[in-house]
Amino acid sequence: MNRLLRIRGAWLVPVVFALLALGAAGAYAEGDPDVDPALAPLPPHPPIPADNKSAPTVYPAKMDAKQELGYLLFFDTKLSGDASLGCVTCHHPDQGWGFGDPISRGYPGTVHWRNSHTAVNSGYVNKLFWTGNSPSLEAQAPAAAGGGVAGNGSNDMMESRLAMTPEYKKRWKQVFGHEWPTISEAWDAIAAYERYLSQPNTPFDRFLKGDKKAISEAAQRGKKLFEGKANCIECHNGPMLTDEKMYNVGLPNPQEWSEAGLHQITVRWQNYQRGVAEKLYREGKHDLGLYYESKDEQDKMKFRTAPLRYLKYTAPYMHTGALFTLEEVVDFYNEGGGKNDPYGTKTKILKPLNLTDQEKKDLVAFLDTLSGEEIKMPAPKIPPIEAVADWQPRK
Ligand code: HEC
Ligand code: HEC
Repeated sequence: MNRLLRIRGAWLVPVVFALLALGAAGAYAEGDPDVDPALAPLPPHPPIPADNKSAPTVYPAKMDAKQELGYLLFFDTKLSGDASLGCVTCHHPDQGWGFGDPISRGYPGTVHWRNSHTAVNSGYVNKLFWTGNSPSLEAQAPAAAGGGVAGNGSNDMMESRLAMTPEYKKRWKQVFGHEWPTISEAWDAIAAYERYLSQPNTPFDRFLKGDKKAISEAAQRGKKLFEGKANCIECHNGPMLTDEKMYNVGLPNPQEWSEAGLHQITVRWQNYQRGVAEKLYREGKHDLGLYYESKDEQDKMKFRTAPLRYLKYTAPYMHTGALFTLEEVVDFYNEGGGKNDPYGTKTKILKPLNLTDQEKKDLVAFLDTLSGEEIKMPAPKIPPIEAVADWQPRK
C-alpha cells in the first residue's frame, strides 16, 4: 500500500470513532473528562511488526544482527542525497537523539521548518511526526531520507551505494539471506534499530509497578496535579503520555520566520508541496499542521499531543522548539496555553490553571521522572564504498 493510502486509512479511524461516540453518548464534547486512559508503564519493548522481525531487546542489551545493521545505517551518511548527512545528523545521541536548536537543520542549503523529534521510544508511537502523518517506522524512514529538506536522497543512488559496500553485502546475507541490499530492507533495519532505542525503565515506570520510593514526594504530588488540577491527563495519557489526538495549543509562530529567509522558503515550499490554495501559500506564515493532511478548516494549526518521555534530554520543546525548559512549559500551560489563534481552532480544554509556585515545581519534578537513564551509543565505524572488479547483475 502506498503512503497516501495508508494515511487516508488512518484518517478514517478517528472519524469512525467520533461517529460511534456521537451515537453512544449523544453529544461528544472535546475533552470529555471520563474517557481518559490512565497513566501506565511502558511494555519492556515496543511492538514488533510480523513483517519486520527483530529481537525483543532494547538498549543496553546486546543487539541482534538486524538491529546492528540498522545502527550502522542510522549513522551512515550514504543515506542522503550528497552523502553528507545521516539520520544521526538531526537525531544525535548527545542532543537527546534529536536536534538541539528550536528548528532542525535541513539538507545543505535549506533549514527544516519544525523541531526534530527524539528517536528514543519512537517504536511505541503509533502516529509519527508532529501531525501524526506516518503510521510506522518502516514508512517513516524513506520520508526522512528522501524528503527535500531532510535527506534529499534518491532511492537508486542510495541503494547503489549500499550495494557497492562489501561489508553491507556481507551483513545483508546474514540478516536478509541475500547479498543485494535493497533500500526498503535498509529502512526495515533502521526501524528495528529505532525500536532498540527505547527507555522503558524510568523512575515513573518503577513507581507505577509498585516501587513507592522510586519517585520523590514532590514528584508524587506532581503526578496528582498532572492527573487533577493541572488536567494534563486530558491529553497526555497512557504509557507514552499521549492520546495521539490533534490540538492547537496556541503556540506563537517560530521566531525564525521573521529572522531567516531560508526558513520562509521552506515554509512556503512545504505549503506548496502539500497543496494549499494560492492565497494561503502567499500569506503562508503559519504552519497549518493537521490541515495539510485533511484540508479541513477545523484542523488548521493542530498538532499531535507530544509524548512526554525522555524529555530531560530533548529540549527545546514543542513543534516550534519555542519553550526551552520544563518550567517554561508549565508556565505556558498555567496561562491557559498560547494566544496564536488566527483561525479560531485553539482547543477549549486549556484554561488558566492558577498553580502556586510550589505546585509548578511539583509538576516539573513529576515530568523529570519520565526520562530514565540517557541512551548513549558511540558512532560506529562506517564501512566504505569500494570499487568491484566484476559487477554481477541482481538475481
Ligand atoms: C535534516 C534533518 C533530519 C534528518 C536527516 C532526519 N530527520 Fe528525522 N526528523 C527531523 C525532523 C525536523 C522531524 C519532525 C518532522 C515533522 O514532524 O514534521 C523528524 C521526525 C522523525 C521521526 C518521528 C518521531 C516521532 O516521535 O514522531 C522519526 C522516527 C525520525 N525522524 C527518524 C529519522 C530517520 C530514521 C532518519 C534517517 C533515515 C531521519 N529521521 C533523518 C529531522 C531529520
Ligand atoms: C488539550 C490537550 C493538552 C493538554 C491539556 C496538555 N497538553 Fe501538553 N501538548 C499537547 C499538544 C497538542 C502538544 C504539541 C504542541 C505543538 O507542538 O504544537 C503538547 C506538547 C507538550 C510538551 C512538549 C513535549 C515535546 O517533546 O516537545 C510538554 C512538555 C507538555 N505538552 C506538557 C504538558 C503538561 C505538563 C500539561 C499540563 C499542565 C499539558 N501538557 C497539557 C496537548 C496538551
